[in-house]
Amino acid sequence: MEKNFSLRELNTFGFDIRARYFQELKTMDDIHKLIDNPEFIACRDAIHRVLILSGGSNILFSNEFFDGFVVYPNLKGIETLDENDETVKIRCYCGEVWKDFVDYTVSKGLYGLENLADIPGKVGAAPVQNIGAYGAEVKDTVYQVHTIDLTTGETKVFSNEECHFSYRDSVFKELISQRTTHALSQRDDKSLPVGTRHALYLIFAVDFVLKKRGELKLDYGNIRNYLINNNITNPTIQDVAATVKAIRAEKLPEVGVVGSVGSFFQNAIVSIDKYLKIKELYPNVPSYPVDNNFIKIPSGWLIDRAGWKGHRENHVGVWDKQALVLVHYGGGKPQEILDLMKKIQESVYNKFGIEINPEVNII
Ligand code: EPU
Repeated sequence: MEKNFSLRELNTFGFDIRARYFQELKTMDDIHKLIDNPEFIACRDAIHRVLILSGGSNILFSNEFFDGFVVYPNLKGIETLDENDETVKIRCYCGEVWKDFVDYTVSKGLYGLENLADIPGKVGAAPVQNIGAYGAEVKDTVYQVHTIDLTTGETKVFSNEECHFSYRDSVFKELISQRTTHALSQRDDKSLPVGTRHALYLIFAVDFVLKKRGELKLDYGNIRNYLINNNITNPTIQDVAATVKAIRAEKLPEVGVVGSVGSFFQNAIVSIDKYLKIKELYPNVPSYPVDNNFIKIPSGWLIDRAGWKGHRENHVGVWDKQALVLVHYGGGKPQEILDLMKKIQESVYNKFGIEINPEVNII
């Protein structure tokens, strides 16, 4: 266990955050030892100050000191569990880098993850917010998720259904917020015994089911055009993964070079009425159907139309090629991003009457 540990290399925004306690977990044995660690127990039970950190590519620390225990699961390994003529089941441990895992499956000719190429982060975090891009979501390939409850040491397997996946959401996010709410109420309510606690699930491995034959998803954005422009008429999954990588590289800041967390905001989900009013004023507003009552409007478009694209304030700004991405140019503080976030939210609300919410987890 480390004390006063710098998380600068472990959050892709690149803020110099310190954690009171930090522990990397490389094996199941490390996890069991953590559960007996007195500092960990104190943080876990007394004032809910435990953070399970993965690739740090979807997190914003609002304070420069995290007064608690950061757990960094980093178990490695990829195993084929079984296969038949149609599918292959693969177990991947949480510490594997997501994009390397995608490259591995694509190199084996397996269908399912090619549109999710080059997403930053680690495998253990992929189910938490049901990562998605270019018309695909990880939920369509997750078979089950292996967890261990850091309050009891018991393992629990979540089937795909039990994960309650939806747009950038899952049961794991619900559980995190329940725990936080519970801990906050417990802090004020002296009648609740300390240690009345909710499970704290750490995802240590994910089982995927991938297809040996499948259909390529080419309909999102400009994937198809990109392939045509490059004279690829009969694309393979390798071509699709390469195309996704090329499109991402054109739009998104390079991880490790410019601080960001990819999309900072979620896309907006609005009523059909609201959408039609906006469409009257902006006939070209992009949109994706959600259900009979709601439509998704890209927040990047809203922020762009509100005039923020390429805007810079001191150490932070809005990426000039994709307005959904806030960036930290180095040397700044998390509060600068939070201030910019508020200004953008207010400006989008004043212009369109739409509230946009962060996609990033703000701690
Ligand atoms: N747009 C603009 N201006 C901008 C940005 C976007 O007009 O500055 C318009 C685009 O022209 C397009 C539409 O908005 O018509 C959608 O843009 P894009 O295809 O870039 O995707 P997005 O909806 O902004 C989502 C995901 C990304 C993912 C892309 C591609 C969310 C919150 N974000 O962005 O995910 O890579 O689709 O599938 O759903 C991430 O989660 O970190 C992330 C990068």
